Amino acid sequence: MQQFRRVSVIGAGYVGLATAVGLAARGHDVDLVETRTDRLEMLRAGSLPIHEPGMAAAYADTQTKSRIHPMASPAPGSDLLLVCVGTPIDEEGRSDLRQVEGALRSVADLAASGTPVVIKSTLPAGSGETIVMWLRGDSSRVFANPEFLRQGHAIEDFLKPTRVVIGAFPDADPDALALVEEVLHFTDCQLLVVGMAEADLIKNGANAFLALKLSFTNELSVLCEALNADVMKVVEGIGLDERIGSQFMQPSFGFGGSCLPKDLCALTNVGKSFGLAMHVTAAASEANADHQQHFADRIVGLMPPHSRRVAILGLAFKAGTDDVRSSPALRVAKILIARGLEVVGFDPHAAADANREVPGLSLANSAQSAIAGAGVVAIGTEWPEFRDLDWASLAKTMAAPIIIDGRRLLDGERMRALGYHFETIGAPIPRN
Ligand code: UDX
Repeated sequence: MQQFRRVSVIGAGYVGLATAVGLAARGHDVDLVETRTDRLEMLRAGSLPIHEPGMAAAYADTQTKSRIHPMASPAPGSDLLLVCVGTPIDEEGRSDLRQVEGALRSVADLAASGTPVVIKSTLPAGSGETIVMWLRGDSSRVFANPEFLRQGHAIEDFLKPTRVVIGAFPDADPDALALVEEVLHFTDCQLLVVGMAEADLIKNGANAFLALKLSFTNELSVLCEALNADVMKVVEGIGLDERIGSQFMQPSFGFGGSCLPKDLCALTNVGKSFGLAMHVTAAASEANADHQQHFADRIVGLMPPHSRRVAILGLAFKAGTDDVRSSPALRVAKILIARGLEVVGFDPHAAADANREVPGLSLANSAQSAIAGAGVVAIGTEWPEFRDLDWASLAKTMAAPIIIDGRRLLDGERMRALGYHFETIGAPIPRN
């Protein structure tokens, strides 16, 4: 029989919200601690500060059942404290752990009184001792539980995990560990109980490996352009080898988000701190930056002489989310603005944060108004609704009917039949 527990989730970002909603859906009572007042007010009013498919309805259900209690600071009485705050990277690629420090110091008294603490925030491997110091001392009830949630699928990934990894210190208290397992390992997926550094390396390593696969795919994609070959056929042929697999081989002009770029950097930096070269992860990060530069160069090369205006459709780092952290589309916008172009962006969900990241970017409130007057339209995010725009009419509103698709979203034959000069990534470039 499952026991229902009272759990505190610290931080109401993607991971915290998915964790809180997921645990509440499983019947637990959740204190959701959020220090940002704007977010807290939204949560208290029953709305969510992020766009995540299915989450709004799931959150509303938890509110009806009174299972999630948004609050500004941790309260006593929980069986378990889950730390889910962000660990962004700074300009130099170093992990910024200030939110983790704040969260741990805020629960240090509760931890000292015996409540186990689980860190779900992604930490660079080797941070274990620092964490124990912020908690003022006792490592036996401190654990790590890296998450593997994909934005856009956060709740389903939480409820049906591929595996559950729990990091523990050598002096782990068996009762505390049993409680952590009971709350977090609730399906028949494999449970791995490992050391703290191993848990962090599993998380950093899994995301870095996915990033390597993408940098490799995107490098092949650019090579295909030079060879007049189609990368989709190439990755299909490569992916049929079961040792390689076809997942995570959709070409783009680079990957983004809050995890892949960060975990690549984290692995590189941790390795370098031990004097290791970390050739592979460092190269994957550099390749990713090159792929955005290459896409921006292609846009500049396509600009008609009488126009300086580019429309970027899609600003989120991928479809299904409003997140623009390390968004490849925004990086391209930045490069284009620095090259003196006027860049107008549109995104169905991610516009609000885009302007903060790239102040020179103009935002349109519809795809149509972004496209009107543009010399080139670039597809930046694979939102399916861009396929259904009335492209036949839109061509007449542009300074020149030129499209470059950074996501292999649109049907090239159709666009050419509508009179567009249409180019995509990883495919022969039409010479007309
Ligand atoms: C990732 C991991 O998938 C997840 O397990 C981890 O917990 C958090 O980080 P997420 O950041 O939500 O999830 O995005 P993901 O779906 O992995 O995509 C990352 C980036 O790769 C995006 O920019 C996406 O557009 C790009 N991508 C992904 C491709 O370009 N091609 C692909 O085939 C897959």
